[in-house]
Amino acid sequence: MTINIALLGFGTVASGVPFLLKENGAKITAAANADIKIAKVLVKDEAEKNALLAEGKAYHFVTDIAEILNDASIDIVIELMGRIEPAKTFITKALQAKKHVVSANKDLLAVHGAELLAIARDNGVALYYEAAVAGGIPILRTLASAYQADKITKILAVANGTSNFMMTKMVDEGWTYDEALAEASRLGYAESDPTNDVDGIDAAYKMVILSQFAFGMTINFEDVRHEGIRHITPEDVTLAQKLGYVIKLVGEIVERESGIYAEVVPTFLPKNHQLATVNGVMNAVFVESIGIGEAMYYGPGAGQKPTATSVVADIIALAHGIVKGEKVAPFNNFARETVYAKKED
Ligand code: NDP
Ligand code: HSE
Repeated sequence: MTINIALLGFGTVASGVPFLLKENGAKITAAANADIKIAKVLVKDEAEKNALLAEGKAYHFVTDIAEILNDASIDIVIELMGRIEPAKTFITKALQAKKHVVSANKDLLAVHGAELLAIARDNGVALYYEAAVAGGIPILRTLASAYQADKITKILAVANGTSNFMMTKMVDEGWTYDEALAEASRLGYAESDPTNDVDGIDAAYKMVILSQFAFGMTINFEDVRHEGIRHITPEDVTLAQKLGYVIKLVGEIVERESGIYAEVVPTFLPKNHQLATVNGVMNAVFVESIGIGEAMYYGPGAGQKPTATSVVADIIALAHGIVKGEKVAPFNNFARETVYAKKED
């Protein structure tokens, strides 16, 4: 059997998908029990299409989303354009056209995830988004499955690869802020507009999504206090070092009697704290729970291949249901109990 997929956008992450399908094709086919074929790729305009064709990229490029939505042979739509619109409209229409959707778009999922999951459910299809949090770390699936018997009490996370990469380069190698940001962009870690990376907004989006998987509840993005790395000075770093600390942009989610509380702030971590050793583009999610106790999940938080690996894992998971002709399980565990917890005053 062949499962046809369509890519929306062909930037950093999207172009990692054909790489994996080619380099690891036999294993992916065996895992999916189907051949995964890139049937169509949506690009912005004719100029981009012609440039990609001139580079030798031999895909069926289209510039009109209708060519994907109206194509009954396409089983899964992979949204890798980023930002809210037109991604939200395209995903909504794809779900309504009974196509499964994979996305890495944390901006969209943190703010409109519940609405999109409801549309998926109403149309008997699924929306998967492992790549939206911590790039290559399979953290959402881990929280949704391995913690079913457990109760999580707290999450601490270094969840933005760009800012962690920048801080590492500035502290360890004396790079300037601008040099570090330019390199994070060149390496494909930063968003096309890196404001969200450096201002803690990207990490705050990830806290919203993590809260859904870890606590079965969602928090409103507006209620996640967030601050970024823009205002950290060399003096702050030196002072922290003198006192035996390192500064990291840390996200925290805790459950209190009143609900869950999440924030993202530059934090003084003792040098021997597990998260203090998370450097460069690496991310880590430190989980405290009543059963497992303390566990940390560590790996690349951004970048083409790690992120595309999470995307393809979602495709394979969806393929299992498609091949069997069965209803695909929803990805998240919070739709059952959508409690909008507010932050504490
Ligand atoms: P890129 O900017 O590299 O790629 C996005 C591509 O989509 C660009 O080529 C963009 O074109 C194109 N695009 C934008 N709008 C449209 C449209 N309407 N129609 C067709 N194409 C369009 O982003 P990334 O690949 O880095 O990120 C993709 C998604 O994955 C984002 O949601 C991001 O947050 C997420 N993500 C990224 C990670 C990373 O490491 N890069 C890690 C985890 C998640 P143009 O450039 O001309 O606007
Ligand atoms: N810009 C994001 C980061 C990509 O640097 O963490 C991964 O979500």
